[in-house]
Amino acid sequence: MAVQITRKGDVAIVSIDNPPVNAIGHAVRAGLLEAVETLSADGTLKAVVLTGAGKIFAAGADAREFDTPPESPHLPDVALAIETAPQPWIAAINGAALGGGCELALACRMRIAGTNATIGLPEVTLGVVPGAGGTQRLPRLVGLKSALDIIPQGKVLKADAAKAVGLIDRIADDPVAEAMALVDGGKLGFGARLSERAAVEADATAVLDARSRAAKRMRGQIAPERAIDLLERATQEDFDRGMAQERETFLELRQGEQAKALRHIFFAERGAKKPDSIAAEPVPVDTVVVIGGGTMGAGIAYALERAGYTVTLVETDEGARERAEANVGRLFKDAVKRGLMAQEEADERQARITLVVGYDDLPPAGLAIEAAFESIEVKREIFGKLDEALPKHAILATNTSYLDVNEIAASTSRPERVLGLHFFSPAHIMKLLEIVRADKTSHEALATGFAVGAKLKKIPVLAGVCDGFIGNRILFRYREEADVLMMDGSLPWLIDEAMVEFGMAMGPYEVQDLSGLDISYAQRKRRAPTRDPNRRYIPIADRMVEEGRIGKKASVGWYRYPGGGGAVVDPLLEDLITEEAHFAKVTRREISPDEIRERLTLAMINEAADILNDGIAQKASDIDLVMVHGYGFPRWRGGPMHYADTIGAAAILDKIRAFERDDPVMWRPSPLIVNLAASGGRFANAGQV
Ligand code: COA
Repeated sequence: MAVQITRKGDVAIVSIDNPPVNAIGHAVRAGLLEAVETLSADGTLKAVVLTGAGKIFAAGADAREFDTPPESPHLPDVALAIETAPQPWIAAINGAALGGGCELALACRMRIAGTNATIGLPEVTLGVVPGAGGTQRLPRLVGLKSALDIIPQGKVLKADAAKAVGLIDRIADDPVAEAMALVDGGKLGFGARLSERAAVEADATAVLDARSRAAKRMRGQIAPERAIDLLERATQEDFDRGMAQERETFLELRQGEQAKALRHIFFAERGAKKPDSIAAEPVPVDTVVVIGGGTMGAGIAYALERAGYTVTLVETDEGARERAEANVGRLFKDAVKRGLMAQEEADERQARITLVVGYDDLPPAGLAIEAAFESIEVKREIFGKLDEALPKHAILATNTSYLDVNEIAASTSRPERVLGLHFFSPAHIMKLLEIVRADKTSHEALATGFAVGAKLKKIPVLAGVCDGFIGNRILFRYREEADVLMMDGSLPWLIDEAMVEFGMAMGPYEVQDLSGLDISYAQRKRRAPTRDPNRRYIPIADRMVEEGRIGKKASVGWYRYPGGGGAVVDPLLEDLITEEAHFAKVTRREISPDEIRERLTLAMINEAADILNDGIAQKASDIDLVMVHGYGFPRWRGGPMHYADTIGAAAILDKIRAFERDDPVMWRPSPLIVNLAASGGRFANAGQV
């Protein structure tokens, strides 16, 4: 039974019982309505306490049902039945009360939260608005300004913050016991039902603020805007009309492209645990050795310590050891500044990271993660030393972003225990982790990678060995095509603007300025000997580096950064680009923002399809996770593969074929796209094993 009723004297306790997260699917809605009907008929009851079985109150509507037609009873009707029942219902919020869970609590006459409870309306993060009265009841409870702060941003509050805004009435260690005690003591006092309260007082400034915040923080997304519209309605309409508007909006958005894309990423994130194809148990890991204390190594060491591992960080000499110590120290200082921990805790934690010089005195760690300089010689030497210094069962991982993991593995006597763990910078913040499987990597080593990833709360994605793995390989092709557009008629800031308009967190040139043009320069030089001489090569970025325009750190790159401040367009760059086009005998042409977006997204999609076709990625959704979590691809477009499915393989193939006529080397349609176009298949189902 998805809903359980127990009697304790003259109080009934109704528990939502739908593991693992008490999602409010059809059975829960039907069970709750039946409970209201049964209990309403019982004249001996003083009150009903609504709670959740296990550790969660209710995680909201069952998002899996969003792809099928709504089936009655609907949640708004259930909520209204609870609110208007003859006995007062009290929400005893024992854990997360999110979305529909929060709306059920709002329909109760009183809300008591456990100390660890969270409560909020995250619907916009799934591309919808609250659909069971949240936009009409919440402002009537906490006022328009607070509701505008919560719903359009999809905020979830901790119990004390929820109490501060008036969203809950009380906090208690055991909210069910507290509710019972209040009933027993006759201490219940309720305001008017929220559905019976008058429209909310208008606040034009708060609405304007919310709109500009949504435009900035949730750029391109429809749901936050529509949520603000509904909250405004709560100031003008009676409750019933507001509810009708809310329902209409919810149903419309639920089947829209943005909601589908956001659901896709939500479930892909949760599905990115250890793949079923990895049939082994992980090596037990308590202690991890990290090699290299630069920005990346320090971030990895910090993240490992915070996840509960004992960490030893290895450097090459005393000077480097001191620099590493300073890098780690900076992260702890930052954590104190951001209120994540007290100074005392930071000192204790930092002291638990041991910094050593050389490999003579390493602990018997189960895992080593190398984050040293990107040079195959350096890595081979390090892995040779680790192989000697660490126990035979230890797993050795490299954080390389593009070097050949097979070659690194070959410098040890245990290639089956070597893999890539590719973190993204800053390593303690970015959720993505590419787990790179070399030819000889064992299932045990991969299982260990996934287990460590889970403990670090990362989103792990399995990748095969190739230059750039999944993410950097797509990035390389994306930047290459952007450079072609720049040479042929566009300009870096126009390309950036077009891609930001598409929804990318930043344009490709602004990103390069941040990471430094010297890094991709070194990669191009490394690739030079194997580059296809028939492939078009755009030398503008090389010239930039050779002239010292290496990005923000030099105050000049694709943009200028006067006084180290924000990016400013540099008109001189247009001369440099035009000159290069002249040298290359290119007649520059007008390139529209739409063409920029089309070519750059298709370049990504074609490369991604090849990656899937080559078996470098196991499934399309893994590529989506990589691009959304590591490269700023808009989450609300669902990643490049999901986005490709919204266009369709046949339409994509037509466009790529048209580009191919001008440049058959760069625009070779991926065999996967050709196959899907012929079969009418979807990228989502391709590559699955
Ligand atoms: N609908 C359907 N399934 C849901 C769900 C929802 N609203 N919320 C979670 N689940 C599923 C997950 O897909 C996962 O399934 P799996 O085990 O088959 O992979 C399972 O419940 C556990 O979820 P997970 O997120 O891994 O658990 P957690 O303990 O880390 O976090 C929550 C629990 C409730 C905090 C988190 O699941 C959450 O934020 N859920 C979404 C809340 C939301 O946005 N509600 C509004 C819906 S409109």
